[in-house]
Amino acid sequence: MAKHTLPMPNGWFMVAFSGDVARGQIKGVRAMGKDLAVFRGESGAVGVLDAYCAHLGANLAVGGCVEADSVKCPFHAWRWDTAGKCVDIPYSDRIPPGARTKSYPVDEVNGQIYIWHHSEDKAPFYQVPKIEQYGDDDWTSDWVRYDWTLNSHPQEIMENAIDWPHFMQVHKMDQPSNRKSIFDGYMFHWIIDAGFSQNQYGESEALRLHGENYGLGFNLTRYNGAQQTISVGAITPIDSDRLSFINSVIGKKNGRSNEQVMGELRAQMEEQAKVVLQDFPIWENKMYRERPILCANDGPILEYRRWAKQFYSEPVA
Ligand code: FES
Ligand SMILES: [Fe+2]
Repeated sequence: MAKHTLPMPNGWFMVAFSGDVARGQIKGVRAMGKDLAVFRGESGAVGVLDAYCAHLGANLAVGGCVEADSVKCPFHAWRWDTAGKCVDIPYSDRIPPGARTKSYPVDEVNGQIYIWHHSEDKAPFYQVPKIEQYGDDDWTSDWVRYDWTLNSHPQEIMENAIDWPHFMQVHKMDQPSNRKSIFDGYMFHWIIDAGFSQNQYGESEALRLHGENYGLGFNLTRYNGAQQTISVGAITPIDSDRLSFINSVIGKKNGRSNEQVMGELRAQMEEQAKVVLQDFPIWENKMYRERPILCANDGPILEYRRWAKQFYSEPVA
């Protein structure tokens, strides 16, 4: 049973990495409580459609195939284009007027494919930012990734960044020496200077995290230290109380080979994953307190939640 009362959020949500959907390929994805068919046409254009054909309901992602920039249904071979319009019925000269299926606005950016989900089908009101360093020769050539699925809601995961006291209790960090959050339209920034008196190697470590969140599905975090990295945290609801959480990272090469830095990032990701996993038992077992009792040194929980309200069509507490 869901332990929260939060509805499906509106916004951009990642459904695949670009490299996972080649030209002519179709892939079934469960996201936003729906079964979707994600495909790449022969021109390279990506379409995301409701997986179930508007004719008699076959699943386009199971046995369907791509022809030109459309998907051919495995059941009666009707073809649907990236905008969800029926473009061919092989056994009929007339296509019924209004033969359309649900399609999602798609943004392919930074080697990742995002869909726009809106409960009332309203048009996108913000964008996923383009990361200039992605594809730059001074940076690793592709994402090193790590992914999980867990029982939670994106708002709960994002709240973690400004929930300062849990850094000490759950992650065994020192009290953050500097912390800041700015809620600004569709995004919020947060900066944390923190550290470990003793990290997993028994050493002291200082770190600065600078995060930018765009909506409830996308977070960009920059680490500036010995190794410069940029990571994307993509959180996509699968169903109302289950989500996909994908972390992906690129790093600056500083004259080293791509393979070497990718290897280092993989090792780093393994370590970071241990930190993320510390949150899992909390996330998966907590409930969403609509009216929490807070103290003076808690993070800006209520401010964050007021910011998050703009991503729902329904009223939330
Ligand atoms: S169910 Fe798709 S063409 Fe008939
Ligand atoms: Fe955490």
